[in-house]
Amino acid sequence: MPQLHLKHLHVAIEKKSILTIEQMSLACGKIYGIVGPSGSGKSTLLRVVNLLQKPLTGTMNYWGEEVDLASLSHAKALAIQRQMAFVAQQPVMFHTSVFDNVAMGLRYRKLDRKTIRERVSEALQLVDLADRIHQQAATLSGGEAQRVALARAIVLNPRLLLLDEPTASLDPANVSIFEQVIKGIHQQRGTTIMIVTHNLPQAKRLADHCLFVHKGRIVESADTSTFFDQPQSQELADFISGRMIY
Ligand SMILES: Nc1ncnc2c1ncn2[C@@H]1O[C@H](COP(=O)(O)OP(=O)(O)O)[C@@H](O)[C@H]1O
Ligand SMILES: [Mg+2]
Repeated sequence: MPQLHLKHLHVAIEKKSILTIEQMSLACGKIYGIVGPSGSGKSTLLRVVNLLQKPLTGTMNYWGEEVDLASLSHAKALAIQRQMAFVAQQPVMFHTSVFDNVAMGLRYRKLDRKTIRERVSEALQLVDLADRIHQQAATLSGGEAQRVALARAIVLNPRLLLLDEPTASLDPANVSIFEQVIKGIHQQRGTTIMIVTHNLPQAKRLADHCLFVHKGRIVESADTSTFFDQPQSQELADFISGRMIY
């Protein structure tokens, strides 16, 4: 039983087709790598799933709840959005402590202070920054700030974690730490994860299943070893071997 199912999705901006997906299914507790050339529609896919961008047509079944994406009410969108979390390429830190940065979403949900303290410290442990809880977030390194952004997402206990090129601006050492943290979160919580990455070895290391997005379509979708070892399309074969594709 898929936990997320998209059907008949069509996104266009000013009459230009951006993304067309007949159907896409994600199973609970897996890590999905989303790869493809720049401009192919990967971020659009995450934004549509996160209900930040309205398509022209499309339905989404999210953990059993079926919604029409083109005519979704704000209240319904918010209820679903609260079961997912998004981390973008560049972390945005507020000029307060690490604790406050991570606690934000929980305060917004009006949880009591004790629960907030517990969940924030648990999230910071998962990203290996428990000792930075009182530090000013603006003084963190880029790699640490990105892990705080991840803690801010996972503190919400999302069913689905959406990561849009989260390590693109990190140096190799921090990429490796970030990947370990993702694996740890996945092992401990079984969170379903969609990670957009232009780093193919990273997709290989992290993902159970990969999707190849090209020119606004999912051209290939397969378990990770099949995806890389036996690409079915010339486009994916070219992309994997580093040849330029358009
Ligand atoms: N607001 C917008 N207005 C016009 N075109 C857009 C807008 N947002 C995205 N696009 C276009 O949609 C396509 C897919 O973009 P995107 O999903 O960001 O690609 P990716 O994340 O794969 O690099 C690109 O051609 C991009 O230029
Ligand atoms: Mg993008």
